[in-house]
Amino acid sequence: MPTVFVTSATGSVGSALCQQLRALGWGVRATTQNPDSKSAQILKEIGVELVPGDWDDEEALRTGLAGCDKLFLCLLPDLGDFNKVPARAKNIAALAKAAGVKQAVGLTTLGAFAVEEGTKPPAEYAPSPFFTQHFHAKKRVEQALMDGGFDHWTILRPGFFMANFLEPKIHMGYTEIRDNGTWTNSMTETSPLGLVDHVDIAQFAVAAFQKPELLHGRLLAVVSEEPLVQEALDQLAAAIGDGRFIKAKFLSDEECAKVQAEGGWRFFSSETCVRYMSDYTDLGELNELIGGLTAFKEFLEREKEGVKQTYLGQQGG
Ligand SMILES: NC(=O)c1ccc[n+]([C@@H]2O[C@H](COP(=O)([O-])OP(=O)(O)OC[C@H]3O[C@@H](n4cnc5c(N)ncnc54)[C@H](OP(=O)(O)O)[C@@H]3O)[C@@H](O)[C@H]2O)c1
Repeated sequence: MPTVFVTSATGSVGSALCQQLRALGWGVRATTQNPDSKSAQILKEIGVELVPGDWDDEEALRTGLAGCDKLFLCLLPDLGDFNKVPARAKNIAALAKAAGVKQAVGLTTLGAFAVEEGTKPPAEYAPSPFFTQHFHAKKRVEQALMDGGFDHWTILRPGFFMANFLEPKIHMGYTEIRDNGTWTNSMTETSPLGLVDHVDIAQFAVAAFQKPELLHGRLLAVVSEEPLVQEALDQLAAAIGDGRFIKAKFLSDEECAKVQAEGGWRFFSSETCVRYMSDYTDLGELNELIGGLTAFKEFLEREKEGVKQTYLGQQGG
């Protein structure tokens, strides 16, 4: 059975991936900054080997990578230093190669298409200079895996996480949805919102790991469903179930430009390129690859305790 080194193992995608790999009987190793956290404990219970340390701790990385066949690379961005994360990716790729890793699967972002020749949106909908740098940093992370000397590599570029509507990710700029019953965003009434379930993302990684040739060399746009924004908010409100209405408020081009000029960092509330996200996706292929994607309604049902806790202040039970 192969062994996979998973970065961000205690995160949303990483945890789901660890569970799926362990269910297959594969070995999983990872580093964590906090071995006592609840998510680290859950991973330990299912047999994930955790090494205390972070992405800059070479000794911990070497220990974790020793004996691994495969690497899953998912690094959080650093919006204050666009060089930091690509350098980390390069270092981890080199350590993985030295440890004998043969295959790498990376997770970056759908936004990378928006700065790429051939897939860029029209110039007037280009990402702002700030997000252009962010996406180039993501592309440099991808490049680190492509240049890493692995026999096989795959890049997964996910859309908007369904989990962003729930604790804890709602604090990444979406609390307006909970607190005001509105979502001010830079989409339009007719642009499909590429939502992705983190469990589906993990399934794509597993599919790539199980058949290294299948997705080798691919930069795969990953979404689970593409509802209109208001449809998604209606489904969320129905799942909360207290009769509330959550209204989508769409920013005009001028309003988006104003938010950008004021230094707005909230991608979905400032950047018009998000309107083009469905140009990069192929739901038919994605469905076939993992044999069924998770609809937002299904996600909300599966995560109903998280919905209650986030929107009604109730703990699960
Ligand atoms: N949210 C979205 O809509 C969206 C869309 C597209 C792409 N993405 C990408 O998805 C990725 C995030 O994935 P996720 O949501 O699964 O992650 P997550 O839930 O935020 O978890 C991130 C994990 O990273 C670990 N970590 C943080 N800083 C670290 C450091 N300095 N050294 C070592 N470990 C560190 C933490 O683990 P420990 O504390 O246990 O060490 C944490 O569990 C990012 O690359 C993001 O750009 C997100």
